[in-house]
Amino acid sequence: MSNTPSEIQVFPINKVREAFPALSRMYKNKPLIYLDGPAGSQVPKSVISAISRYYEQSNANSHGHFITSQETDQIIDQTREKIATFLGAEKPETISFGSNMTTLNFALARSIGRYFQPGDEIIITQLDHEANRGPWLSLREHGIIVREIRLQENGTLDYDHFESLLNERTKLVAIGYSSNILGTVNQLAKVRKMTYQYGAWMLVDAVHYAPHFSIDVQALGCDFLLCSAYKFYGPHVGFLYTRPGLLDQLPTDRLRTQYQQAPHSIETGTFNHAALAGVCAAIDFIANLGEGKTLRAQLVNAMHAIQIKEYQLAERLYEGLKKIKHLQIQGPSFYHKHRAPTISFLHKEKTASTVCQALADHGICAWNGHFYAIRAIEVMGLLEQGGLTRMGISIYNTEEEIDRTLEVLEEI
Ligand SMILES: Cc1ncc(COP(=O)(O)O)c(C=O)c1O
Repeated sequence: MSNTPSEIQVFPINKVREAFPALSRMYKNKPLIYLDGPAGSQVPKSVISAISRYYEQSNANSHGHFITSQETDQIIDQTREKIATFLGAEKPETISFGSNMTTLNFALARSIGRYFQPGDEIIITQLDHEANRGPWLSLREHGIIVREIRLQENGTLDYDHFESLLNERTKLVAIGYSSNILGTVNQLAKVRKMTYQYGAWMLVDAVHYAPHFSIDVQALGCDFLLCSAYKFYGPHVGFLYTRPGLLDQLPTDRLRTQYQQAPHSIETGTFNHAALAGVCAAIDFIANLGEGKTLRAQLVNAMHAIQIKEYQLAERLYEGLKKIKHLQIQGPSFYHKHRAPTISFLHKEKTASTVCQALADHGICAWNGHFYAIRAIEVMGLLEQGGLTRMGISIYNTEEEIDRTLEVLEEI
């Protein structure tokens, strides 16, 4: 990514803000400021309308002969297709749906646990969200060895340590694309190259990456990638990309009545169809911010504009935070070329909970704690003192909001 001023395009911030009803919510006579995007972003009107429209017109179970059921089938197919395009996947059949990323990852881990042999090894990281650690750690009860890549003080992973963990028994590396706590973007090209040497699979948790950067699963060469739509302006739906042919090899939990092939073989029960309609609308919403002849080109272009816009704002926040006396920013420096617009910091005298309460009193939504990346907080030695304060930039945030947040933090 390049951030030279000449390349910074004008971002349609007014058009974007008008699209989000939640931005008109007032608190103590001032509009709420949402810096809680990493825990779930706000939802545009088009997504809300798609969900209501489904209930008003097409509500039915799937695979019937009647119109509402057929419309439901169309929504399911269309959503698979849109997500495949969003991820640069080979075909819609590589996309499976689930309630959320954690549930899908547990289902995948259960099946991989049956497929691997005792003594096989899985590598996870100290930086990841627990949703990409817990499912793999649970396989230790089947005799699978789980090792973890060390997190360094500068907020990046120790790749030398990673190399030392790899061996011919390594079967899977489960790694986040970007940290939901420090904004670190992990070096997946390097990880891919190293895992190929041992024939191990690479699974990517892209939940925090997807709202901020475009994803190309084929260029990445990943075997699995997981995402959650509620982080990128959609409703609560998780989805899994699996490299073509791979899911069919896995003994997933499934009913006899379920389709036995990918992508269905890991899907259980009835979907939240209305939410799937919302996911489609969320992808269209992003695409409409970009230009291009195909949906994929529009999405890539839009994500590039989002990346630049968010980076500028995050840099403004970072610079402002650096000037505030009692604050200590954690994680990689902001001059990393490839970094998510998520910043966490420590107040030298107040707990993160106290800081977030004070922010909340001023109508600023920000999270405190470990954000489920509890191992990273533990390794950083911050668990007992209540973790960090986290601020995440989303497409609807503005310079004024950042400046007001910095003013409030100064006062605190
Ligand atoms: C990086 C990351 N991975 C995984 C998850 C879990 O996602 P879900 O809530 O869809 O289970 C989250 C949620 O915050 C996350 O930030």
